[in-house]
Amino acid sequence: MQKILVVDDAELNRELLWEMLKDEYEIEMAENGDEALSLLGRYGCDLTAVLLDLQMPKKDGFSVIIEMKSSGLIKKVPVLVISGEYDVEVENQCFQLGVSDFIHKPFVGSIVKNRVKNTIDLFECKNQLELKVIEQEETLREQDQIIRIQEEKLREAKEFNRLMMEYRSAIMEVETRLKVLNGEFSQEYNRNPFESIKSRLKSPASIYEKMGRRGFPVTVESIRENLTDVAGLRVICSFPDDIYRLADLFIRQDDIILIRRKDYISNPKPNGYRSLHLIVDVPIFLSHEKKYMKVEVQFRTIAMDFWASLEHKLKYKKDVDNTDEIEKLLKTCADSIEELDYQMQEIRNKIDREK
Ligand code: GTP
Ligand code: MG
Repeated sequence: MQKILVVDDAELNRELLWEMLKDEYEIEMAENGDEALSLLGRYGCDLTAVLLDLQMPKKDGFSVIIEMKSSGLIKKVPVLVISGEYDVEVENQCFQLGVSDFIHKPFVGSIVKNRVKNTIDLFECKNQLELKVIEQEETLREQDQIIRIQEEKLREAKEFNRLMMEYRSAIMEVETRLKVLNGEFSQEYNRNPFESIKSRLKSPASIYEKMGRRGFPVTVESIRENLTDVAGLRVICSFPDDIYRLADLFIRQDDIILIRRKDYISNPKPNGYRSLHLIVDVPIFLSHEKKYMKVEVQFRTIAMDFWASLEHKLKYKKDVDNTDEIEKLLKTCADSIEELDYQMQEIRNKIDREK
């Protein structure tokens, strides 16, 4: 049963109302404003309605209404004012404070029942509507947030794709410059300083993995700043001296900025790896700007490339048992390859001299 509170100083009125409403509601009674407020404090929103007399000793009905308004309870529990006479001004004042309706004396059973019921029903409807509006507002806010996240992701994807386009352009730029040098050499000296060029753009998964491993945030700016090998080229030469000649000619171009040079040919890695690594800043020319991009260029001989490719494949095979022995064998091979490279270069020099 729904609980209602009847507040009236006249016992007769309380009795009458109780008699009229007892079958439908559980009824709490108060004789004055103070009692009413203490019951309101105890039951709060558990009350479905308050029937309130205005003129009472101690604290009157107005004071109760004002307190219910200031605590916000008047928005949660409907108040029906019990009044003896029609006084337009008083009634307007009550409505302004948030009172829902009036029950006029003398009480007529059916009218009282209907007024109370209608008020409760209306109030519930209004509350449910308000709840729905709040829910819909929440849903809208959530959808708005989803849209903003998607927008952000799209923007990031767009920025990332642009970054990749710029690195691809940088690869093309370096490749073209090296091919130009190769063309010039074959025209002038009838030989090619390099045999082939391979290029690769680091995959998004590999970029993501490396940034995570090194503790960098995965943003376009951070990738640009912290990775030097998103754009990678491998230049495969026939002879070791071609490597240095080609690399020097390339670095000497007046708009190429050398960031790092690692010479693993004169200082091979302990495992025997040999290659010349350059990290360079290369300009690319876009519609509205000239931009420098970092590119990693590895120079190796055919023999070094053969070794490095195999070593790379073997290194990442997980089911290799005697790695120590394999590493020793690979190192021996690397040494033989070094010897072979210089022997071949010597033979070429001999032939050149005899020409
Ligand atoms: P990464 O983080 O792997 O790029 O290494 P790094 O930043 O220390 O630079 P480094 O110049 O040593 O290596 C750059 C690249 O050279 C590697 O990504 C490999 O492609 C190649 N590389 C370097 N060391 C080896 C090696 O021992 N074996 C093989 N097969 N390749 C190597
Ligand atoms: Mg690398």
